Amino acid sequence: MITLPELVQLKQNKKKFACLSLHDATFAQLAEVAGVKLLLVGDSLGMTLHNKPNTLHVSMQDMVYHTSCVAAGAKQAFIMADMPFASYCNTAQAQANAARLMQVGAHMVKLEGDRQLLDMLPALRDIGIPVCAHLGLTPQFVHLMGGYKPQGQEPEQADLVYETSMHLVEQGADMLLLECVPAALARTISNESRVPVIGIGAGWDTDAQVLVAYDTIGLSTRKPPRFVRNFLTGADSIPDAFARYVAAVENLDFPAPEHTY
Ligand code: KIV
Repeated sequence: MITLPELVQLKQNKKKFACLSLHDATFAQLAEVAGVKLLLVGDSLGMTLHNKPNTLHVSMQDMVYHTSCVAAGAKQAFIMADMPFASYCNTAQAQANAARLMQVGAHMVKLEGDRQLLDMLPALRDIGIPVCAHLGLTPQFVHLMGGYKPQGQEPEQADLVYETSMHLVEQGADMLLLECVPAALARTISNESRVPVIGIGAGWDTDAQVLVAYDTIGLSTRKPPRFVRNFLTGADSIPDAFARYVAAVENLDFPAPEHTY
């Protein structure tokens, strides 16, 4: 089984790795066979599976169910599960909810936010739960952000994302995920962070890339975001498309300039 120290080692060896956000056992198995090392049970399931405009309605029960489905399919990959909206309003609630995800097969949890996560990190790590901090475009904050907009575009905003990222790593974040931030900002954070940085719409210099599995095979009725490539184009099957995604990430063929902000 792939472990967190192995993912850190990949970063240290400057070897890029791929992550897919998915929600069931079959996709988990196919992704793993294709070489995906990190599986995210993302709360984007609120949009892909439930067809809602955002992720705010996703419940702990939804996340527990889909994490157990993914864990049933995956035998090798490291599994990260999203803590859904309002499931970590205080440290006691975060501990109890994160523990539920770990008990059904997650190896790490992901929380969205910024400095307010500082309290959560020691509380979760104290009970043995590794944490990924999701910064930049944080979909659970869609109403505060006024929509799904790239973040860190202005120098002041970029400095804040940088400082918060570094602070969270100092305080014990085990991984960072940067969504829709300028490539140059993501590069600086990745270069200076000792923990792996995953990017989505954040350029090619992060240690890993993540996409929603449905997006990599064009399985959507919505207009795909700018950071998506359909890997089924030119592939002969879904497993082949996943393998092409992994190869493109590892060989630095994806993302390309047109996928960045
Ligand atoms: O929920 C999700 O799938 C995610 C990724 C898009 C990063 O958080």
